Amino acid sequence: MDSFVYHAPTRIVFGKDTVDRTGTELAAYAVKHVLLVTGGSSAKRTGAYDRVLASLKEAGIGHTPFEGVTPNPSLELVESGIDAARACKAKGVLAIGGGSVIDCAKAIAAGVYLDDYWAVVETRKPVTQALPVFTVLTLSGTGSEMNERAIITNEPLAKKWSLNGLCLCPKVSIIDPQLQAGLPWRLTASGGIDAMTHVMEYYFRGRLADAQTGYFHEETTLQICEGLLRSLILSLDELQKDGANYSARANLAWAACWGLNGLSGSGLSGGDWTSHALEHAVSGMYPAVPHGEGLAVLFPSWMEEVYDKVPDIFTRFARNVWGVDSPQQGLEATRAAFARWGAPQRLSHWNIPESAIPDMVKNAFAYRALGRLTPLSYDDVMRIFMRVL
Ligand code: NZQ
Ligand code: ZN
Repeated sequence: MDSFVYHAPTRIVFGKDTVDRTGTELAAYAVKHVLLVTGGSSAKRTGAYDRVLASLKEAGIGHTPFEGVTPNPSLELVESGIDAARACKAKGVLAIGGGSVIDCAKAIAAGVYLDDYWAVVETRKPVTQALPVFTVLTLSGTGSEMNERAIITNEPLAKKWSLNGLCLCPKVSIIDPQLQAGLPWRLTASGGIDAMTHVMEYYFRGRLADAQTGYFHEETTLQICEGLLRSLILSLDELQKDGANYSARANLAWAACWGLNGLSGSGLSGGDWTSHALEHAVSGMYPAVPHGEGLAVLFPSWMEEVYDKVPDIFTRFARNVWGVDSPQQGLEATRAAFARWGAPQRLSHWNIPESAIPDMVKNAFAYRALGRLTPLSYDDVMRIFMRVL
C-alpha cells in the first residue's frame, strides 16, 4: 500500500430539510456577506434558493446574487464572478447547484486573491488563499462538495483544467437529498456514472499481493471502493424505477461524495485518471458535452484498451462488483449498465467529427500524464477515441 495523506476537512450537513440550516452553518464562521452563486433556474425551481435566502436573512447574513453559471463553466464566467465578489466585498462564497456551480464558486473564491486566474492554473501549483466556500448541493456526482479542486474551461484555448488547493475545500456542504427529487433521469444517471468513474479511476491501481489467497496490497481501500460501486449501481437502478425514492437519492448522494474526497484513493498511488483527461479534452473543445455522459462513452473504451495488461485487478473488479468471472465480462457489464441507464455510447451523439480527435489527444496529453496504470502511447489514446467515434 502506498503512503498517503488523507484530509477531508469539509463539514457535511446531510439529510431532509438541512437546506434550512444554511444560515446557521455560515454564521458559525462569522461570515457576514456572501456572493451567492447559482446556475440557470434549478436553484429556484427546487425551492432551494428561497429557503437559503430565508435562512440567511434569519442569521443576519447579507448576499449578492451571481446567477447564470452554465455547465462546464468558462474562465470568462469566473472572471465576472471575481469582479462581483470584489465589488460587494464578499466575505465568503455560497454555491447552490451541481459541480459546475460549485467549481465556479471555488474558482471565484480563489480568484479574488489572484491577478491572473489562468496564469496560476497553468503553473499547476496549489493555491493557498481563498474566501471560505460553502455549498448547497443539488446534483450528486462530481464530489466537488467535499474536495479541493475546481475545473474551469478556458474556451479560447480549449483547455479544461483544474485549480487545486486545500483552501478550496468547502467549509460546509449541505446535502439535502430532497433537493434532487425532481432531477431528470438523464442528469441523475450522468452524475451517478461520474461518481462511479471516480472510484474506478483509483480502483484499478490495486495490486495483487498474494496469488494464492487473492489478497491485494490495498485490500481495505479496494473493499471500500467495491462497496461504493455496488451502492451506486443499486441506487441508480432504484432511481431509474422511481426518481422520488428518498433512500436511493440519499445513498447515491453519500456514495458520490465519498467517491472523490480522498478515501476511495487512499494507498492507490493517486489513481490513473486517463479517462478524465480524455473527457476534459472532449468537453474543453465541446462544452455542450456533459461530463458524466462523456465519461460513459470514454471509460469503457479505456477499460477495453488496458484490461488484458492488468488482469488481476480487472478480474477482481468483475467478480466483486458485477458477480461475473472474467475481465471482459466485467467490461461488458459496465458498458451494459451505462447503456441501460440511457447514457450515450458514442462521440457521434454530439456530432464530434473524426477530424477533431488528434487535437483532443494532444489536449489530453498536455493536461496530465496519461497511462499511469499501464503506459499509453499516442496511438493507444487515438484508438480509445476512435473505438467510440
Ligand atoms: O444550471 P441549472 O439550472 O442549475 O441546471 C443544472 C445543469 O443544467 C442541472 N441541475 C442541477 N441541479 C438540479 C438540476 N436540474 C434539476 N434539478 C436539480 N436539483 O443540472 C445540469 C448540470 O449541472 P452541472 O453542475 O454542470 O453538473 P455536474 O454536477 O455533473 O458538474 C459537472 C462539472 O463538474 C466538473 C465537470 O468537469 C463539469 O465541469 N467536475 C468537477 C470535479 C471536482 N470539482 O472535483 C470532478 C469531476 O470529475 C468533474 O470534472
Ligand atoms: Zn468526474
